[in-house]
Amino acid sequence: RRFSRITGTGSYLPPRRVTNADLAAQLAASGVETSDQWIVERTGIRARHFAADGVTSSDLGVEAAKRALESAGVAAGDIDLIIVATSTPDMVFPSAACILQHKLGVAGCPAFDVQAVCSGFVYALTIADSMIKTGAASKALVIGAEVFSRILDFSDRTTCVLFGDGAGAVVLEASDTPGILASDLHADGKHVGILCVPGTVCGGKVIGDPLLKMDGQAVFKLAVGVLEDAARATLEKAGRTAADIDWLIPHQANLRIMQGTARKLKLPAEKLVVTVDEHGNTSAASIPLALDHAVRSGKVRRGDTLMLEGVGGGFTWGAVLLDF
Ligand code: ACO
Repeated sequence: RRFSRITGTGSYLPPRRVTNADLAAQLAASGVETSDQWIVERTGIRARHFAADGVTSSDLGVEAAKRALESAGVAAGDIDLIIVATSTPDMVFPSAACILQHKLGVAGCPAFDVQAVCSGFVYALTIADSMIKTGAASKALVIGAEVFSRILDFSDRTTCVLFGDGAGAVVLEASDTPGILASDLHADGKHVGILCVPGTVCGGKVIGDPLLKMDGQAVFKLAVGVLEDAARATLEKAGRTAADIDWLIPHQANLRIMQGTARKLKLPAEKLVVTVDEHGNTSAASIPLALDHAVRSGKVRRGDTLMLEGVGGGFTWGAVLLDF
């Protein structure tokens, strides 16, 4: 049988780090009031990184991809599939994946974007795993890359303090042993209104509001329940139990949602990988960013069992269980 396995990880944060105090000072200048204390207490976020003007998702993604390739010991030219999970692509089309492919200096392999907002990375990883299992690909680059700072409404304190920019990547290769054990993906479009960027481009103009809108409490209530369901479904498919999980690496949106999910799975807090404090919510980039940080800091080791979980706009949600 043919399986897929993560052979390398990488990530990249734009250099500009903005603390809560920096952001509060910037917002105060335009009459918007917030504080480090409010942001830390409600979300666990202490800082985020913002990309400089003109920097795109493919710019961040290609740096993460290069690092993942280096850690896997794979040459860019040997990659035969590129998937970028993003909701903030460089342009309407072509995809960020095509632009990133060219920046990597390669050509020919299929390259496309997956748009599932904060669940984008678990969606993309599941697609790459499926393509490897069917023989359609052997060495895939799966990247989450976002510049959410571009779609934030800095007059809305309920959303603009939550997000950041960044990218994470993995190399996923065909293998005789698993790797990815199981995954479980879902969507329910009736919740489109609770988290969206409703605008679009039409007739050369932006039609509607091009900035992020969120009903935070509605998202919060849905998130904890669906994350537990997806984790349990994935464990069942893999014939494992929550006790087998060495590390829970959820989408990094809010520390309270992440801790709530860990509690529901009866996992001790030490098994939760947390980077939201330093990255904020980087949407599709948050899981591969957290994974790479956990690998490079020596937390996650070869052979560990990881539960990756995403939830976000759509509403979309899902989980991937894997042996690293
Ligand atoms: N600074 C100071 N005060 C604030 C701020 C701020 N940045 N934002 C809101 N407040 C105020 C509100 O105005 C309100 O004041 P009021 O009581 O006088 O009306 C008060 O704080 C409480 O506001 P709530 O919205 O009730 O705060 P809550 O505890 O629900 O926290 C939060 C808000 C952090 C957004 C929370 O609901 C949350 O994390 N939700 C989930 C969000 C999430 O995970 N989103 C990402 C999903 S992934 C994706 O697809 C992008």
